[in-house]
Amino acid sequence: MAAPMDTENEMEREFLKQGAEAKVYRENFYGRPCISKQRFSKAYRHQILDKSLTLQRLKSEIRAMNKCRNLGITVPVLYFVDPQTSTFYMEEITNSQTVRDYIVDLQKNDPELAIKKLTPLAGKLGSILGKMHSGKIIHGDLTTSNMLLRGDPENLDIVMIDFGLSFAEGLPEDKGVDLYVFERALLSTHPNTEDLFTEVMEAYKKANVKEANDVISKLDEVRMRGRKRTMVG
Ligand SMILES: Nc1ncnc2c1ncn2[C@@H]1O[C@H](COP(=O)(O)OP(=O)(O)OP(=O)(O)O)[C@@H](O)[C@H]1O
Ligand SMILES: [Mg+2]
Repeated sequence: MAAPMDTENEMEREFLKQGAEAKVYRENFYGRPCISKQRFSKAYRHQILDKSLTLQRLKSEIRAMNKCRNLGITVPVLYFVDPQTSTFYMEEITNSQTVRDYIVDLQKNDPELAIKKLTPLAGKLGSILGKMHSGKIIHGDLTTSNMLLRGDPENLDIVMIDFGLSFAEGLPEDKGVDLYVFERALLSTHPNTEDLFTEVMEAYKKANVKEANDVISKLDEVRMRGRKRTMVG
């Protein structure tokens, strides 16, 4: 099967975003709205190393998405993977917004309503993260921009994206770090969300019963290290 679009054929795809390692486009996959994500070379990396790292990231992203789907975690449907151009094509989650934009809007417009709406969402997220970790997947880049919301406004579904830094297996420490990254991202992007993180963790414990204690003690350790670093400067 040929790739649906040549890389030279920029005309028919709409550029959406450039991250640190990938460009994200909106295009059409045999008649369906589609998002493509193309990893690009980093000039500072040795050429051969760069190629293998790019391929590795592409593979780990695909692998994690497939695993999540098997675990019952909602991720975009994968359409096609093209290692030649380091691109994969997936379902566009239409009529969605990032958790980041959702929180920012709610907090700006109605802080009280924000707490009411965000608490159940935090619970859902904690269940997803617990399930993901008990299924041996570390996301690697848990931020509120890497989660999309769609569906019934009163009962939104969370769609997890951006598994480019993910990896499999993982010790409790890796899971603790995964949660720490999320805690930092949440608190630094959205003020007054400490209680939401607590809510996330309550649901996490229920969804990853076997490991939760070990993971949380690692999370505490990582937090302590973080704090010491900040104090030393
Ligand atoms: N399947 C999708 N459906 C709708 N929007 C998407 C989808 N995938 C990505 N997006 C949008 O594009 C943005 C960037 O995607 P993504 O997070 O995968 O890339 P990135 O952050 O540039 O990647 P990286 O962190 O690997 O450099 C997302 O925040 C989201 O707004
Ligand atoms: Mg991202």
